[in-house]
Amino acid sequence: MSSAPLKPGANPLRIGILLSGRGSNFLAIAEAISTGKLKGAEIAVVISNVADAGGVAKALELGLPCHVFVSKGRARQEHDAEMIGCLWAHGVDLVCLAGYMRLLSKAFVAAFPNRILNIHPSLLPAFPGLDAQGQAIEYGVKVAGCTVHFVDDHLDHGVIVAQRAIPVLESDDAHTLAQRILVEEHIAYPEAIGLVASGDYEVRGRRFLKR
Ligand code: GRF
Repeated sequence: MSSAPLKPGANPLRIGILLSGRGSNFLAIAEAISTGKLKGAEIAVVISNVADAGGVAKALELGLPCHVFVSKGRARQEHDAEMIGCLWAHGVDLVCLAGYMRLLSKAFVAAFPNRILNIHPSLLPAFPGLDAQGQAIEYGVKVAGCTVHFVDDHLDHGVIVAQRAIPVLESDDAHTLAQRILVEEHIAYPEAIGLVASGDYEVRGRRFLKR
């Protein structure tokens, strides 16, 4: 199966950020845009499902449109429908999950087919789900890293756009490994968005191929 790349044309690709926490990946994306490292993209809106997420304060500091849709206690589909409406209202082309800690409904994924990116702190398909860095330490792997992938209906599963690897040090614990992987995440995510924004790629089966 193949799918068409995103082709925003001459206009910048409009990114919608979804987050639940501190938002360091969101800030890395925002910085890459403001410094010109990530070209052809702009942040159209930031959405949090957690009212006091650190990323919300940062978005407001940057003067970006920011909306909170608290998800706790709400039906997934109903909550997702509100987010879809907000993303559409802001003309979003590409949704970037940046520490968004809630599963998305099938309806949400269908609303943005191959138009949702996620970053996961492991070399997928190893260690999907929560505490990927702790899983890596427990398993005893010698190489760890991060993955940027398109989101499909399965957890941490979609087509891989980019990965960055680092050695696991003998002195590492889950915390130090997470810190070092995070440095790589902040490089990988803007780079992957740049690739997608360029439109110069094709998705063939599970493979993301640059043209
Ligand atoms: C990152 O480790 C990311 O890989 C995972 O959640 C964490 C979010 O961190 N999906 P931040 O909020 O971007 O700092």
